[in-house]
Amino acid sequence: MYTFKEIIAKKRSGKALKKGEIQSFVSGICSGAISKQQISALLMAIYLKGMNQVETTELTKAMAFSGKVLDLSRYDTPTVDKHSTGGVGDKTSLVLIPLMATCGLKMAKLSGRALGHTGGTLDKLACFSGIRLDLGVSEMHQLLASVGCFISGQTAEMVPADKIMYALRDQTGTVSSLPLIASSIMSKKIAGGAKYILLDVKVGTGAIFNDLSKSRSLAEWMVMIGKSLGRPTRAVLTSMNQPLGNAVGNCLELAEALQTLKGGGPEDFRRLCFYLGHQILQLSGITETEADSQILMSTKINSGEALRKFKEMIAGQSGNTSCFDDPASICPGDHEPVVLKAIKSGFVASIDTKAIGIRSMEAMEPTENEALDLKAGIILHKKIGEKVERGDNLPSIYGRDMRKLKLLSASLREAFTIMEYKTDPSPLIIDLVS
Ligand code: URA
Repeated sequence: MYTFKEIIAKKRSGKALKKGEIQSFVSGICSGAISKQQISALLMAIYLKGMNQVETTELTKAMAFSGKVLDLSRYDTPTVDKHSTGGVGDKTSLVLIPLMATCGLKMAKLSGRALGHTGGTLDKLACFSGIRLDLGVSEMHQLLASVGCFISGQTAEMVPADKIMYALRDQTGTVSSLPLIASSIMSKKIAGGAKYILLDVKVGTGAIFNDLSKSRSLAEWMVMIGKSLGRPTRAVLTSMNQPLGNAVGNCLELAEALQTLKGGGPEDFRRLCFYLGHQILQLSGITETEADSQILMSTKINSGEALRKFKEMIAGQSGNTSCFDDPASICPGDHEPVVLKAIKSGFVASIDTKAIGIRSMEAMEPTENEALDLKAGIILHKKIGEKVERGDNLPSIYGRDMRKLKLLSASLREAFTIMEYKTDPSPLIIDLVS
């Protein structure tokens, strides 16, 4: 058996690690037997030399079972988890989780907080005062049995190896490694226990990878890992070349998700929700054709059932549901936004999605002694391909501190490129990997 030092040296010289070596390294990470320096050295060796698909699957398995796993095998109905690799304005989980639960699925959604410039589903749900986002395993089961869905952070005992490795990847510049990203995401999905997994892998200026071939490889690897660990998995490659929908920011996005659950919402966001919903329904055997899925989802939305399911889930997680009757209460009505106006006419040719994400986060940042401003964020009035007249509103930016908003708004000007000729946005739904 190799020592930890020898395992690091083996990977440094580009050799493939064996199952036993990967398992002993991961258990050493969790037991504290391996120093942070050694973990960091192995992460850098993996970053530079890569891992093949077999090694990545073994790493995923070792990480997934490094702590507690949810056992959802007791349910007769299919259990599903859905994951996005992170985007700007991506609030699809808020619509899809209750919508899919009304279609007869058990939706066990383990979510995260904001990461870099991308928003986190848990932060959006935090707009419901009092909501519990740290459910214990028995509460998760109670909600699945009674409501059919929950959205929660993973428990502290789940996937401890990922917590340690992710923190060190962040400090050592080794985040953007395909095997490390694939194993980090898939270990959490495997530990989440759902039988079926749908992945939304973003591509573009606001995504982990701007490059389509890298995003495609990530999608293919994650699908392969899921399948080889007995979890039927599909991935959809979708564009993050502009924010999804019009709202970016926690409560603003929640308001947009509520509109969509009521049958409205921006066209691109609604289309993506329906497409992802169809993939989930087909993967789990509820429907066969896209037409069947569309009819089922439209019925659940038009009848108000999907919205009621969302309210039931929020109440089940102890959240205040008054905004379902009074939508204005979640909107940032107390302060007027600062509005950035176009200084020339033309068509929006591109939007720097990452910059929109960063400015929205900055608008939310608390000043001394204040809490994070969940109502802060950005509403886009124009998206790629739309006609703009000089003086038209581009984005509105919301928050508590007008001075800060004016500075942020001015810096947003560079995020919009306006050209004389119309450019169509890149397709929202790029490809399906199954
Ligand atoms: N999300 C994760 O959970 N892990 C990564 O490595 C990247 C995105």
